[in-house]
Amino acid sequence: MCGIVGVVAQRNVTPILLEGLRRLEYRGYDSAGVAVLADDNHLQRVRAVGKVVELERTLEATPAVGCLGIAHTRWATHGKPAEHNAHPHVSDGLAIVHNGIIENHSPLRRKLTDLGYVFTSETDTEVVAHLMAWHYRQTPDLLTAFRNTLAELQGAYALAMVHEDEPQNLYCARMGSPLVIGEGSGESYIASDPLALLQVTDRFRYLDEGDHARLTVDGCTLWDRQHSPVERPVKRYQHAALSLDKGEYRHYMLKEIFEQPEAIGNTLSGILGDNHVLTAILGPDAESRLASVDNIHIVACGTSYHAGLVARYWIESQVGLPCQVEVASEYRYRTVAVPANTLLITLSQSGETADTLAALRFAKDQGYLATLAICNVAGSSLVREADWRLLTQAGPEIGVASTKAFTTQLVALLWLTSALLQVRGRAADQVAANVAALRQLPALIDQVLALEPAIAALAERFANKHHALFLGRGPHYPIAMEGALKLKEISYIHAEAYAAGELKHGPLALVDENMPVVSVAPSDSLLEKLKSNLEEVRARGGQLITFACETVEQPGADGDTIRLPQVDDIISPILYTIPLQLLSYHVALVKGTDVDKPRNLAKSVTVE
Ligand code: AGP
Repeated sequence: MCGIVGVVAQRNVTPILLEGLRRLEYRGYDSAGVAVLADDNHLQRVRAVGKVVELERTLEATPAVGCLGIAHTRWATHGKPAEHNAHPHVSDGLAIVHNGIIENHSPLRRKLTDLGYVFTSETDTEVVAHLMAWHYRQTPDLLTAFRNTLAELQGAYALAMVHEDEPQNLYCARMGSPLVIGEGSGESYIASDPLALLQVTDRFRYLDEGDHARLTVDGCTLWDRQHSPVERPVKRYQHAALSLDKGEYRHYMLKEIFEQPEAIGNTLSGILGDNHVLTAILGPDAESRLASVDNIHIVACGTSYHAGLVARYWIESQVGLPCQVEVASEYRYRTVAVPANTLLITLSQSGETADTLAALRFAKDQGYLATLAICNVAGSSLVREADWRLLTQAGPEIGVASTKAFTTQLVALLWLTSALLQVRGRAADQVAANVAALRQLPALIDQVLALEPAIAALAERFANKHHALFLGRGPHYPIAMEGALKLKEISYIHAEAYAAGELKHGPLALVDENMPVVSVAPSDSLLEKLKSNLEEVRARGGQLITFACETVEQPGADGDTIRLPQVDDIISPILYTIPLQLLSYHVALVKGTDVDKPRNLAKSVTVE
């Protein structure tokens, strides 16, 4: 989704802006642009459709050099991907970049058109540029004009602005879309994601909703939504451990799949005792408050939602607490019945997903006992706004297809299941078994990763396929859903997941020799039921591809079964995720798609 970078320095800022944009490429975008204030104080704007490399080529022909600049990668919402719609947008000596959506852009556009402004794009952002120019005409003070502009905007935004009249200053504001200020020595930066700036700083201030700021080479001045001066603490970025390079890997996605043993090890470190879980990680009053939880609601999107679905099986079967799981885009707009003593859990890799964040804000007024964010980004909005936070330590996830973020979420959720048991003083043996099983995971995942060549060979079968079914039962049904999501998002093959028992209620009609049917068949209490479902597929000529436990006798047709180690049932969903990730990755290679940046998708969905 859209990305913002801005720099004020005593050197040419264009290389820093471009490197920042390159680091944001993983988020998904369709065009890019920069605006840099030249030494003679005139704005140079350069934009290009396509990748950042296209912008670099354009800049070679039309250089933009100066000590103050802003840059943007755009993911089209209002107006098609085209140079005239790319940011920055300009008006009367100012340039603006924007993430988010200005919901009242239509009336503002009409008002500004009546005032004589001519629009050159279909974007909501150009409205902000002209509105800012108009306010600056009414007051000679740029800060006041900036505030008056913000006061008229409805919707979500992270904004950055530079003006020819103030060549030392970079203005920015945040409302509903993330924005950080980076501290350098003799230079200052802004970005929509700290990753964009890690080449120049690891020190960040995270803006609160309604904050706005003016940056100079000496630092920044910050104000809150009431225009009162505020301080936001400087925090060191915590993701230094797992690197941002692709290293020896062809794609980030593959690297991130192979990082899972380490990411899970990092996530577990500091939260497990020898045969118990350490609840103090949630804060001093966590034990007593967790003990009073009677119900759980989990809200998330996409892959994170699937993690919540697995957790429901764990929480209901081991702790006996009712657990409801819902996609955030639905939850946030309905009337929710919240029983007494309900804990709300939001799950998110990025912590900036607009629907999940809105769900958390909506939940604040619904009478929950407490809110907990399980998230991979320490300084994210979700983490800052929840009562409790549990950080997964997956490290930066660059591939749009979420992999290590998912399995580390599952690990965190199994830790939580164990914590809920432990604080009730129940089933110490079960807690100890969960802890032991969690500790085994990194080594077990290494064993499954070694199956990559066999899985890559299976992927060839999808070369001419357009559809696929994924089957699972119990907690492996959400794993089948996650497998189907992975396949569709990176290979563009239409894939659907079903609880295997549902097959005969409709989807069986789709099964013939052109339909690959991928199933997850661990050795658990539902295996015999699943085998019957697979027989139904086999009888109709469906192509069975089965991931089964090494101890299970022939669940699929000859040659189509990949064997996984036998493990404790509780961690089995985590283990069976890995081959499905590898299968999708290799099918995407066979199909020749853009694995790390699939079409139409964004890494962090910061608009509704
Ligand atoms: C996963 O592969 C997806 N790209 C997507 O479904 C993602 O999980 C979803 O957008 C939620 O993101 P979050 O975890 O950052 O909130």
